Amino acid sequence: MIEKINKYLEETKEFAATTIDEIESFRIKYMGKKGFINDLFSEFKNVPRENKKLVGQKLNELKISIQEKINALKENLEDKTESRSEIDLSLPGDSLKLGSRHPISIVRNEIIDIFKRLGFTVSEGPEIEDDWHVFSALNFPEEHPARDMQDTFFIETNPDILLRTHTSSVQVRVMENSNPPIRTISPGRVFRNEAISARAHCIFHQVEGLYIDENVSFADLKQTLLYFAKEMFGEKTEIRLRPSYFPFTEPSAEMDVACNICGGKGCNVCKYTGWLEILGCGMVDPNVLESSGIDSNKYTGFAFGMGIERITMLKYGVKDLRLYFENDVRFLNQFKSAL
Ligand code: DAH
Repeated sequence: MIEKINKYLEETKEFAATTIDEIESFRIKYMGKKGFINDLFSEFKNVPRENKKLVGQKLNELKISIQEKINALKENLEDKTESRSEIDLSLPGDSLKLGSRHPISIVRNEIIDIFKRLGFTVSEGPEIEDDWHVFSALNFPEEHPARDMQDTFFIETNPDILLRTHTSSVQVRVMENSNPPIRTISPGRVFRNEAISARAHCIFHQVEGLYIDENVSFADLKQTLLYFAKEMFGEKTEIRLRPSYFPFTEPSAEMDVACNICGGKGCNVCKYTGWLEILGCGMVDPNVLESSGIDSNKYTGFAFGMGIERITMLKYGVKDLRLYFENDVRFLNQFKSAL
């Protein structure tokens, strides 16, 4: 009987199967009602007492190894069929989801691109500034109400240090550090102590422009801005300049473009005027040139400053400024650009 058991052990070890049917017939052959194991247990009754222990152990060993063999074969087969059905190697891979540029960055890049075509360079300055570069050098007299035009965030312990309220501070830095001819734009973030609403925010973005050379005139300013408006909003875009006041330019003007949300008919965005103000501009005040060391008898220049949020609003019809800062991907995903 031991010999028979050894033979079955050997067969079990050698057995291999590739289908579930093969495994099943193996199981029936050995473990079925009329299988070898049951036959052996019947035979076992006749084994002499002194051999029972040894044969019994061998018999159990055989039973266990058959069961283990069946389990192992089944597992193996399951693994294979699973991997075949779950992964279709011919399917394309999951594509990586790319984000999109923020609308403010898209429009900023577009503004830079337009002015680069006119020969303007890009310059930058610090967001944490001093009084000189934000106010004094720009002809804001001390204690003059002009300083109240812009609600400023000051550092409590040192009121000379503040968050810049406009990017005009960069034109001062450029004039201090270079000689005419100067043709530069300065994009950047600015800060004002304002209550946040659909139309105002305490953080926003501006682009400052500065052009200084001999014989620069208001006509140059107007033509530059008209070119910009047409490139930005389309060939048919109309602009208008209204007289205004800024301490650092004389004469000063504000520029409007026809409201493209209502097509000039009047809507709540343009306050029913058909026009939207997009920038301030003017001829650089001789005092400003002189404070930065530029000879105002030899040179003249123009400057302008525009809000990027406002231009984005006009271009894309976004009416609420707060959307730009909420980082809601449902909003951000709508802006795609090559720039
Ligand atoms: N700095 C002004 C502002 O923040 C905008 C501005 C107006 C800039 C006229 C200029 C300018 O350079 O000439 O409202």
